[in-house]
Amino acid sequence: MGVAVPDTYVELADLAMARGVAPGKYVEGLGVTRMGVPLVNEDTVTLAARAARMALESAGCSPEDVGLLVVGTETAVDHSKPVASYVQGLLGLPTRCRIFETKHACYGGTAALQMALDWVRSGSAKGRKALIVCSDIARYGVGTPGEPTQGAGAVAMLVSDTPALLALEAGKTGVYSKDVMDFWRPLYSKDALVDGHYSVQCYLDALEGAYRAYQESAAEPAGEGAYSDRFAALVYHVPYGKMSRKAHRHLRTLDGDTAPDASFDRLVGNSLVLPSQVGNIYTGSMYLALASLLSTASQDLTGQRVGLFSYGSGSCAEFFSGVVQAGAQERVKALGLEARLTRRRALSIPEYEDVMRAREHLDERPAADAAGSGFRYQGTRDHKRIYAT
Ligand code: HMG
Repeated sequence: MGVAVPDTYVELADLAMARGVAPGKYVEGLGVTRMGVPLVNEDTVTLAARAARMALESAGCSPEDVGLLVVGTETAVDHSKPVASYVQGLLGLPTRCRIFETKHACYGGTAALQMALDWVRSGSAKGRKALIVCSDIARYGVGTPGEPTQGAGAVAMLVSDTPALLALEAGKTGVYSKDVMDFWRPLYSKDALVDGHYSVQCYLDALEGAYRAYQESAAEPAGEGAYSDRFAALVYHVPYGKMSRKAHRHLRTLDGDTAPDASFDRLVGNSLVLPSQVGNIYTGSMYLALASLLSTASQDLTGQRVGLFSYGSGSCAEFFSGVVQAGAQERVKALGLEARLTRRRALSIPEYEDVMRAREHLDERPAADAAGSGFRYQGTRDHKRIYAT
């Protein structure tokens, strides 16, 4: 697994004060402390490439080992050329590699992951690995209710028949999809539009449907106590931390638990440590929460089952599960994700608003002459995006 976030962030208490809102509303009310805000040399491609490089390095893999690359994103940089093609070029992946992009709001990465699992299980992989990257920049209008639920980042995962982190359980998955208008981004808009409170209800309805479908697919004998106690941890899609709390409350109530909040810290708490510092990263949000669980849990999760709930507006959702592998927590801890977050620079609110304005015209920004390095967006020349390697 690899994770990339912008080098800069906004403190939500500062944003609240600038908007004339009590800081408690954003920090406790939404459960977000900081949100990642990318500067103009960062886009969905650069975040994806940085996360993918970290995943390959962490697994000790060479680009030649990859036979399938899928980037899940809802904030792509081109209507035709996929982010995956840029990532292939930046990482030097082989030409004998199937590459494409998937879109279904925040579910796009999970769609790619499930497809990769089928590719591996069918034997088509022939020993090669699938590289799945979830990369997005979550952007709502300045001053709108969605503004404090922005964020940016990417999570990359290598999928193979020798999993080192999580062995995803074949056949144990429950899907729920429904045509709803809860959150969308018209082709003419850089900002997402959202019916905020309705989107929360759509998320909860989808959780209920997917969780019930999961239970049917798992077809396990009835046991004592709450069904969700069969999991050592639950990882929900995290548009903001409070949403995970609402989700967990709903799920435990479905289980018949009359004190549904009592299990929150035990089953969900660790998954929110990193997301509360980054904000919503759309496709990667649930996977950042998984990284958070594996890197911050103090108990040994080896051999234990984790439940995962992915939600994408529009909508499609999936509840699935995996078993934590020996050494997984050490591997993710070794990525030093918490330390990386502390090295970021805070933006003042005027600086943040300048960046938001500048990003409006990012696609047409002339490419800088000076060559940069480290997977950065240089600008556009002859209608072609230029990246520093
Ligand atoms: P809002 O209407 O401004 O906020 O926007 P609110 O009035 O609902 O307040 C938020 C919480 O703060 C409430 O807690 C208040 O009580 C509390 P709750 O009742 O919900 O438990 N509060 C305070 N707490 C402490 N101190 C205070 C204080 N004041 C109030 N002083 C909303 C909230 C989430 C609607 C808005 O931010 C929004 O529209 N966000 C974007 C949409 C979103 O994230 N939806 C989530 C579900 S859909 C999804 O997850 C998919 C998505 O990721 C996209 C995709 O799939 O691609 C978004």
